[in-house]
Amino acid sequence: MSQIRIGILFGGKSGEHDVSILSAESIFRAIDKNQFLVIPIGILKNGHIANAHENKQMLSSEVHSLIPNNFPYNSINISSFQLKDHVDVIFPVLHGPNGEDGTIQGCLEIADIPYVGSGVIGSSTGMDKEIMKRIFMSHQLPVLPFYSFKKYYWQEDSAEIIFQISNQIGFPCFVKPANMGSSVGISKVKYEADLKKGIELALKYDNKIIVEKGIEAQEIEVSVLGNDNPQASLPGEIIPDRDFYDYDSKYSSSNSKLVIPAILDSNSLSKIREYAIKAFSSLDCAGLSRVDFFVDKKDHEIYINEINTMPGFTKISMYPKLWEASGIGYQDLISKLIDLALERYENKIKLF
Ligand SMILES: Nc1ncnc2c1ncn2[C@@H]1O[C@H](COP(=O)(O)OP(=O)(O)O)[C@@H](O)[C@H]1O
Ligand SMILES: [Mg+2]
Repeated sequence: MSQIRIGILFGGKSGEHDVSILSAESIFRAIDKNQFLVIPIGILKNGHIANAHENKQMLSSEVHSLIPNNFPYNSINISSFQLKDHVDVIFPVLHGPNGEDGTIQGCLEIADIPYVGSGVIGSSTGMDKEIMKRIFMSHQLPVLPFYSFKKYYWQEDSAEIIFQISNQIGFPCFVKPANMGSSVGISKVKYEADLKKGIELALKYDNKIIVEKGIEAQEIEVSVLGNDNPQASLPGEIIPDRDFYDYDSKYSSSNSKLVIPAILDSNSLSKIREYAIKAFSSLDCAGLSRVDFFVDKKDHEIYINEINTMPGFTKISMYPKLWEASGIGYQDLISKLIDLALERYENKIKLF
């Protein structure tokens, strides 16, 4: 049987450009080379597709020998039918805005090509923290109290917004750009006097803000895999080495700990797995997602924090590590995701 050609889209315009490169390299090294021919397709920070030379420069030299040298980097257009002449499946290992938010997925729908992960709706509703939480609530999934508003309203009546947050949410609260990731633009606000500063920081990254009640919590993550009948991994716990899991504790320092499986009573563990699957299905996700929870340290109540439809995917990232602990190794996980992409595509084309 001839090899299936997998185009790995990586890099991208978002703040998570570098993380994406690491995930792509990990996949590149681990993928079953008998079954798959991998073509890395880099996206530069300015959003353009990298040419052959730039593509090599984005990747470390040890993987250069694996890059096919006859790929037409200069003429590739990811939302064109022509893409199908060169690759069979796309793995968009892109995080954050423009990668994980339905935009690239829309291009791939137009190109009529199978791709790994959620489609347009799952990706876009999973990206916007306000919309995501409203859908979760409509499926009786527990979320912390939140208040959301747009920039224009802040400019019009900031006093009213501060009043509403103080009354409805209280302190400490977390102020977040509605569409971001990697904790970029997020702050923990302990006093009303610091709210303005937190909101102005978040407004640098998005025109919509979400403010949530802050709790002292265990941070639990679950990996979900599948299409119509998704499965949940064993839950794991993140123990940040500081006040909260901010950008530096995610990427710069290594003192944050991952504990797999999470140390929780069996009832909470099974509830979290059930919620993770329900959350995945409620947004119509496909392929993979990591669902993140808070378990209140005071009363052990469980809340869903968020879903990540294209979680970090290096060999040592939480998503693959949770599957490893649940019996699916990294190479098999990649093959399964490609199978799921093909299955979803086949089911869709039957409709036309
Ligand atoms: N409501 C909250 N209560 C307690 N901690 C929070 C809350 N919201 C966020 N955090 C902390 O901030 C981190 C980043 O927030 P999150 O909503 O997951 O944003 P991102 O999408 O950038 O990962 C969380 O991992 C957690 O450490
Ligand atoms: Mg998070």
